Amino acid sequence: MNMKKLLSFALALVMALGMASFGMAEEPIKVGVCIYQFNDNFMTLYRTELQKYLEETYGAQVTVVDGKNDQTEQTNQVNSFIAEGVDVLIINLVQSTSAATVIDLVQAADIPTVFINREPAEEDMTKWEGKTCYVGADARQSGTFQGEIVAALENQGDYNGNGTIDYVMIMGDPENVDTPYRTEFSIKALTDAGLTVNKLFEQRGDWMQENGQQLAANALAQFGDEIDVIFCNNDAMALGAYQAIVDAGRVVGEDIALLGVDALEECVLMVSEGTMTGTVLNDHVGQSHTAADVAIQAANGEEVDSYYWVDYVKVTAENAAEFLPAEE
Ligand code: BGC
Repeated sequence: MNMKKLLSFALALVMALGMASFGMAEEPIKVGVCIYQFNDNFMTLYRTELQKYLEETYGAQVTVVDGKNDQTEQTNQVNSFIAEGVDVLIINLVQSTSAATVIDLVQAADIPTVFINREPAEEDMTKWEGKTCYVGADARQSGTFQGEIVAALENQGDYNGNGTIDYVMIMGDPENVDTPYRTEFSIKALTDAGLTVNKLFEQRGDWMQENGQQLAANALAQFGDEIDVIFCNNDAMALGAYQAIVDAGRVVGEDIALLGVDALEECVLMVSEGTMTGTVLNDHVGQSHTAADVAIQAANGEEVDSYYWVDYVKVTAENAAEFLPAEE
């Protein structure tokens, strides 16, 4: 073949390939997303961002379903997605202890799966390596940050000046490892700073605002001015606790401290105004984008790592403005 012929052959080949790939316009990647329950402030922000990003960035075909806080319901939803033949699943388990069962199902159907928000046990993440992973934030860090915010206050959290930090702990649902970790590490940060602590009250409010209000009201009725600090495992419960604090005639920043996690916009605003002592950014944007990127890689047949971590960030009166949307 002379040079001219070779060139026109190459040109024809390039055009043919181009037309072939144009003609067979690629099918969108089908993503099934299971959320533990839609009725959750933080997970609502998370799933909205996740769907938007998958659609806008990857043109993916996304279906998001509500597990209604019922593992049986969620397992049925996983089976329906498998039957439909989705390319990849993103799962926010209802019960993190069900990870092993869910992995058996997706592995049998050869559908790679990204777990989010509720971290499965480490041994479960080794069951189907390369095809399953967890994307989340290390909850120990969020607890530590809550404690450090208190330790950095001028009175180090001892509002009534009795030499100890008398605290109330309002906990999330124990199915999420965030609950034990935030509960433990917030207090550990205080004792690590050489401070003395005294637990007055500790109960679970399962992440819900109404429960936060009820439990804080109970604690305030029972312990009154003895309480220096109310720690909540998330911001929704802190919003509820704030109402109870106001109803009890107490004033955040003057005679009591209030801490949450998530950095919901209303809470960041409260931190900037001083009606909440601090919160910790649970970066739903970073987590949802990472989960989506990894899910698309897995759908395209690439092997994935077992863990992808996104950092928490402390939010206090000093830096809260940086976390608020820019004013128009
Ligand atoms: C968030 C909570 C949320 C929970 C759901 C946590 O990481 O801080 O606000 O309710 O996840 O599992």
